[in-house]
Amino acid sequence: MNTTQERIIIFDTTLRDGEQCPGATLNIDEKLTIAKQLARLGVDIIEAGFAFASPGDFEAVTKIAQLVGTEDGPVICSLARARQEDIKTAAQAIKPAAKGRIHTFIATSDIHLKYKLKKTKSEVLAIAEEMVAYAKTFTDDVEFSPEDAGRSEPEFLYQVLERAIAAGATTVNIPDTVGYTTPSEFGAIIQGIKENVPNIDKAIISVHGHNDLGLAVANFLEAVKNGARQLECTINGIGERAGNAALEELVMALYVRRQYFNPFLGRPIDSEKPLTNIDTRQIYKTSRLVSNLTGMLVQPNKAIVGTNAFAHESGIHQDGVLKNKLTYEIMDAQLIGLTENKIVLGKHSGRNAFRTRLRELGYELTDTELNKAFVRFKEIADKKKEISDWDLEAIVNDEIQQAPDLFRLELVQVSCGDNARPTATVTLRTPEGEELIDAAIGTGPVDAVYKAINRVINVPNQLIEFSVQSVTAGIDAIGEVTIRLKHENRVFFGHAANTDIIVASAQAYVNALNRLYAFLQNQQQQQQVVANN
Ligand code: KIV
Ligand code: ZN
Repeated sequence: MNTTQERIIIFDTTLRDGEQCPGATLNIDEKLTIAKQLARLGVDIIEAGFAFASPGDFEAVTKIAQLVGTEDGPVICSLARARQEDIKTAAQAIKPAAKGRIHTFIATSDIHLKYKLKKTKSEVLAIAEEMVAYAKTFTDDVEFSPEDAGRSEPEFLYQVLERAIAAGATTVNIPDTVGYTTPSEFGAIIQGIKENVPNIDKAIISVHGHNDLGLAVANFLEAVKNGARQLECTINGIGERAGNAALEELVMALYVRRQYFNPFLGRPIDSEKPLTNIDTRQIYKTSRLVSNLTGMLVQPNKAIVGTNAFAHESGIHQDGVLKNKLTYEIMDAQLIGLTENKIVLGKHSGRNAFRTRLRELGYELTDTELNKAFVRFKEIADKKKEISDWDLEAIVNDEIQQAPDLFRLELVQVSCGDNARPTATVTLRTPEGEELIDAAIGTGPVDAVYKAINRVINVPNQLIEFSVQSVTAGIDAIGEVTIRLKHENRVFFGHAANTDIIVASAQAYVNALNRLYAFLQNQQQQQQVVANN
């Protein structure tokens, strides 16, 4: 345990807490794709889900444990409430992993005890102790979280932690569940725990925090200074409400300012050794993958991974950077894997060149994925003479996205312009193979296309977000469309990329409707099972 105390452990919860944000629901294959990339990124622990929550969650945790939880891979963790059935299910789900962890939690703040749990402090103390001991019967690696620790009475927090550690918790995680604390307060909570929990030297102190006041990353860095050695974070900071602490921000803060943080970890001040095991060159790719698969766009000015994060617009800055990069840059874009956007391939490039460049960019595709992506590449290369690295990434991300293949878009045709009524015709193939054609008039070409698609698929929904982003500059750039739609309080997203933004818009919409359609089919099947029993 002491060896890890000298560095920071990165616990990624993109697939559990991150997936809890509206509309970010991922299917099993998408979760697996992200988990594999998280392993390449070098995270220490992947919280792969909440196994008890649904059969789908259970299957996802199990599959990730089987395929990513190898001997030299990350620890695979499942969340579990402090209840026997949750813990047992979590234990079953992580079983295939070489290294598995159960993360169990119960709330400790007065407000949660009174209104949510309706339990006394002594009842919570007993449950925490009993459930940690129960989890320990399945694995040595048990993490315990007192939920809403940020608003819990310190003396009670110390008691719960002491009992959990005595029962076998090897990590105690301190969540600022509602994102309420300030950095100095959060640091003081960690210091208080170090000073007042007698057996704290037997566990790693972890932190978990939400970004309701935009303070999660700052809170974590203060926690590190006070003894926290595990950080629970998500890619792009996605998560419940305002999200979780962003992995890329924490990792790069600890990297760029390592000389500031070194002494807090007992290292020589000028040690160059990174404080985490993260391969920073994988950060940008992981960010793009998570954004594409969850449909959660990254704001352009987002630290580290936003499209403007390394752009210099003002003349004074550009002049300074040309003379010496360090005048206005505290880190090199290549550090996070932001490659120069080189023009690499064209319409005559073959499959081998395509595969080789993808490998150089760090994408290992299966044969089926490669075949699909190559067909797309050829289609795009026909329209766009020069294909750059960023185009390749857009093609690959689009192809490996796993929206259910139910309705297929076969044709989109629009007529629009000044003094014209935007009209669209679409052809879709139904899951049963039938070809359906319809047409509609709209306020603009995209509206017309969406109305035409609605006439075919006919599932009530409300479009709540529509965004188009260009992958590169230039009139022939690939446009990426992300949409979100709502059906009875559930949000579904769709994403697609094409040089024609009307086609991308149509495909993104069909992808979102396919997710919605699959959800409804699933619901119907479950109701059928209940009725048959
Ligand atoms: O925010 C929170 O408190 C959590 C716990 C389950 C750790 O996500
Ligand atoms: Zn959380």
